[in-house]
Amino acid sequence: MTAERLVQPPGPVLVTGGNGYIGSWVVKELLGLGFDVHATVRDATDPIRTEPLRALDQGRGALKLFAADLLQPAAFEHAMIGCEVVFHTASPVALRGVKDTVSDLIEPATQGTRNVLETATRTTTVKRVVLTSSVAAIYGDAVELEETEGRRFDESHWNETSSESHQPYSFSKMLAERLAWRIAGSQDRWDLVVLNPALTLGPALTKHSRSESVRVMREFATGYYRAGAPDLEVAIVDVRDVADAHVQAALRPSASGRHVLSSESVTLIEIGRILREHYGDGFPFPRLTVPKFVVGLLAPLGGIPRAVVKRNVGYPLRFDNRYAEADLGIEFGPAADAIVDQFQQLLDDGLIPGPKVGRRLRKGTRSPVERGVDRQAARDSRAGA
Ligand SMILES: NC(=O)c1ccc[n+]([C@@H]2O[C@H](COP(=O)([O-])OP(=O)(O)OC[C@H]3O[C@@H](n4cnc5c(N)ncnc54)[C@H](OP(=O)(O)O)[C@@H]3O)[C@@H](O)[C@H]2O)c1
Repeated sequence: MTAERLVQPPGPVLVTGGNGYIGSWVVKELLGLGFDVHATVRDATDPIRTEPLRALDQGRGALKLFAADLLQPAAFEHAMIGCEVVFHTASPVALRGVKDTVSDLIEPATQGTRNVLETATRTTTVKRVVLTSSVAAIYGDAVELEETEGRRFDESHWNETSSESHQPYSFSKMLAERLAWRIAGSQDRWDLVVLNPALTLGPALTKHSRSESVRVMREFATGYYRAGAPDLEVAIVDVRDVADAHVQAALRPSASGRHVLSSESVTLIEIGRILREHYGDGFPFPRLTVPKFVVGLLAPLGGIPRAVVKRNVGYPLRFDNRYAEADLGIEFGPAADAIVDQFQQLLDDGLIPGPKVGRRLRKGTRSPVERGVDRQAARDSRAGA
């Protein structure tokens, strides 16, 4: 597809939130293709937040870091100069224990989207904005699946049930995406392509990631589910496939609309089973399902409202990913690869305690590195690298 690219290296292109869990993988892929990348971070002088990103700058494309806060209207202007594509990934991600849902989630998500996209409208080089939305903008709670045709959420659905008090992160993502479509519709120089990833798992590029994805996986090693796990289904996508989707969304001239990025849905107990198959019995992976009424009683202690338990535990959560596959040429890898490769990265980086008994890789299982090499080769050939 080299001849048909919307943009050609060296660019430059802009990635907001370039040091985030997803943003850093997007930066890595773009640099690997030879693009010069302007990446924004909140504090460009903080070595912990920037060094992993600087380490990606190894030859092909060049990396420049810019400081920018979502809440400051002109913050992205300098970083966007000369850019043809803007990847807007920066947004606060917090699923539990948010103190002030408006100032911590909703304002940065919406004002940030307004600031970045209005800056794109003023920057005459910009042809396309790729927005990292979420499946959280598509549905509110799993119970809503019962009312959908075909029992699958897809790009035609919008979250209509979240609010400041119920699922506020989902509310912030829905508001930000709706605003993005409105701003895109108010001009005609750049077009908007939206990506709606499910729970994104897979190795982080830094041991200092603060992403919720890292917290979710750590809980499988730290005993959070020692007594069992709720009957909760999660839709999973590999972070490397999410990065690939961002790149394809920028390069393909015909890419358009929203895109559900989801590989498959698994329960928390199934995640425990996948991890046990690879790592043996030395970790407190969940085996038992905790009854819903017990989950409802305990959830508020962990910052999860009862209404969230009531509307999600015990219900299937399924997505139709066919449009993303067709429009972006994505082949979603199995959820098990994302789960195992992320767990291995957490172990390798010393972010979770080692097993009580020796690590056992199941006989015949290909190592995370072997799987990663094959999948990277497939991505490179799709991108024409
Ligand atoms: N992880 C998932 O499962 C998942 C699933 C679907 C969609 N998403 C979306 O993917 C995007 C990235 O998420 P992630 O998991 O990679 O999270 P992350 O690692 O926590 O990254 C969040 C990024 O947003 C930036 N950010 C937050 N508040 C900001 C502010 N006020 N001003 C400037 N930058 C700010 C952070 O910058 P600093 O580090 O410099 O503060 C960081 O780069 C988000 O839009 C999220 O909604 C994530």
